[in-house]
Amino acid sequence: MEAAFSIVGAGAAARVLAGELAQAGAGLALWARKPRAARELAAELVAARAARETEAPTAELPALRAHEGLTGATAGSECVLLCVSDAALAEVAALLAEVEPTPRVVLHVSGYHDSSALASLAARGASVGSLHPVRPLPADGGRPGCLAGADLAFEGMPAARERALAIAEACGAELFDLPARAGAKHAYHAAAALLSNGTVALFDAALELAGGDEKVERAFLGLLEGTLENLRRLGVPDALTGPALRGDAEVLEGHLEQLDSDQHALYGPLTARMLELAHRRGALTSEQVERLRQIL
Ligand SMILES: NC(=O)c1ccc[n+]([C@@H]2O[C@H](COP(=O)([O-])OP(=O)(O)OC[C@H]3O[C@@H](n4cnc5c(N)ncnc54)[C@H](OP(=O)(O)O)[C@@H]3O)[C@@H](O)[C@H]2O)c1
Repeated sequence: MEAAFSIVGAGAAARVLAGELAQAGAGLALWARKPRAARELAAELVAARAARETEAPTAELPALRAHEGLTGATAGSECVLLCVSDAALAEVAALLAEVEPTPRVVLHVSGYHDSSALASLAARGASVGSLHPVRPLPADGGRPGCLAGADLAFEGMPAARERALAIAEACGAELFDLPARAGAKHAYHAAAALLSNGTVALFDAALELAGGDEKVERAFLGLLEGTLENLRRLGVPDALTGPALRGDAEVLEGHLEQLDSDQHALYGPLTARMLELAHRRGALTSEQVERLRQIL
């Protein structure tokens, strides 16, 4: 059976998407600029499939292999999924545009670039789009099924959208459309990176400030989980708790005394935002917010 999808790259995003698509029974053709990386990924996927097959054997196994050349990896596939670094996207798209025949559908998974990054392929008749999994994808490939329930952001051409929808369905994820406005993805990606990667950096800063051990780390993970649960249930601003919401100047001043300048650079603007939320929530008057901002 021919591969339904070609995956280009063998980094974090490629590992997760290849793993999810292979688990859904899709045929895959893999290519990476270092052939060994594609071979190793293919071997892992085949081993994972063999383990699943002992549980529920199927009659015909779809193709699942690494290719040495981009032409071989993309021949006959319904969709090429570019999972390469943002900086390499234009170069890899140009390389793919040289391949005969031109792939019917090409998607990239960048959160930063939109489908115009694939203009060289669109000019050759490919239907192009961007499909960004709105999830942090770890270098170890994540746990099986890690995209189930995730949201995948799409923008691009109609045939590309059909394939994107097939990928979302195979992963048990939801597809949603991003506005096709020039530059819109840059702001969207800045927001996503601030939220996801920023949380990791904030977690690290919080642990440093608390000078904590494993028990504090465990407790802080629970704190984050509780915050997420409140955000899901109550949303913003109702999920906000803490001294800024209570307008407690003494506690805020006590906090500030403990901070070095780097920590203050995080604490000050974030607390100012908390005060705005407390005002939106009706917990503080504008005058109270102004007075509290003075001490930050
Ligand atoms: N990780 C995430 O959480 C996540 C989530 C959603 C979307 N994405 C998107 O996924 C894309 C890849 O990110 P990643 O996290 O998977 O990065 P990554 O782990 O660093 O993998 C990057 C891949 O691109 C390949 N590559 C780099 N330069 C290349 C070139 N000039 N020619 C061919 N291949 C090249 C790398 O090959 P080498 O190993 O040979 O360098 C590697 O296979 C990005 O556009 C990102 O926005 C990532």
